[in-house]
Amino acid sequence: MSKTIKAAVIGHPISHSKSPLIHNYWIGKYGLDGSYEAIDIAPENLKAEVQNLIDQDYAGFNATIPHKEAMISLCENSAHNAQVIGAVNTVVIKDGKLNGMNTDGFGFINNIWDTCPDFDFQGKNAVVLGAGGAARAIVSALIGEEIGHIYLLNRTREKAEMIRNEMGFLSDLIKVRDWGDRNTVLGKADILINTTSLGMAGQAALDIDLSVLPKTALVNDIIYAPLYTDLLQQAKACGNPVIAGIGMLIHQARPAFKEWFGIMPDVTDELKELVLK
Ligand code: ATR
Repeated sequence: MSKTIKAAVIGHPISHSKSPLIHNYWIGKYGLDGSYEAIDIAPENLKAEVQNLIDQDYAGFNATIPHKEAMISLCENSAHNAQVIGAVNTVVIKDGKLNGMNTDGFGFINNIWDTCPDFDFQGKNAVVLGAGGAARAIVSALIGEEIGHIYLLNRTREKAEMIRNEMGFLSDLIKVRDWGDRNTVLGKADILINTTSLGMAGQAALDIDLSVLPKTALVNDIIYAPLYTDLLQQAKACGNPVIAGIGMLIHQARPAFKEWFGIMPDVTDELKELVLK
């Protein structure tokens, strides 16, 4: 008799997580004998509770706020990009050992290609707004795709400079600019990405003027609630191609599902609608 493959997402709080919905949709779609649940783990219990998952024979788990950074030191092995980003969002348990990955960059790139399959990052200029965890993953993914330059702007400039400095010999690819220069820097952009929380439901909108943004530039917001933020609506009105954040959320789950359940799952409109409900 085959054994149920168990996976989970751990966080604190965790009830808001869309991950169970996404993974259970795929478990059902592919007719697998698997389970995926949300487990609330307080930071002080992280190590012991993770050991519990190992003891209960879990295939692995996703880590979300506030555990992503702490998981780096708990993992025996971490993929290079997880080390660069400084955060693990996916853990694969093999022979009782924790192997850490970060799939946010994969999710970001594949979401862009879902909408614009021919978009080639090589040699292009990206403007990235924000310098939190998501920005770190996106900057690292852009560099992996051989982007030309990244103009990085954050309200707290030092955090953008920290990301640039962490990129070592590739740091010249990143040009830090003042947050106040966000309207003028757009003249150079082939792709604009908002990684800040501005524009999220319940938050202030991102105050930006897209007048000098080339009309061919892609505009991506990683926020998915609302589906089309003020930024994306403004970009649409200017005639720019826009890419909503919902696809990144779903795409980043795919490599994890593949590792645990053995199938690289599809991103369908039905799943997007389910997640947005
Ligand atoms: P995530 O992990 O999703 O990237 P985060 O680390 O909390 O989230 O980062 C949130 C980002 O939104 C940061 O870049 C933050 O800017 P600061 O580093 O200056 O805090 C940005 N942000 C949040 N509120 C903002 C605001 N009112 N104006 C400008 N930027 C804001």
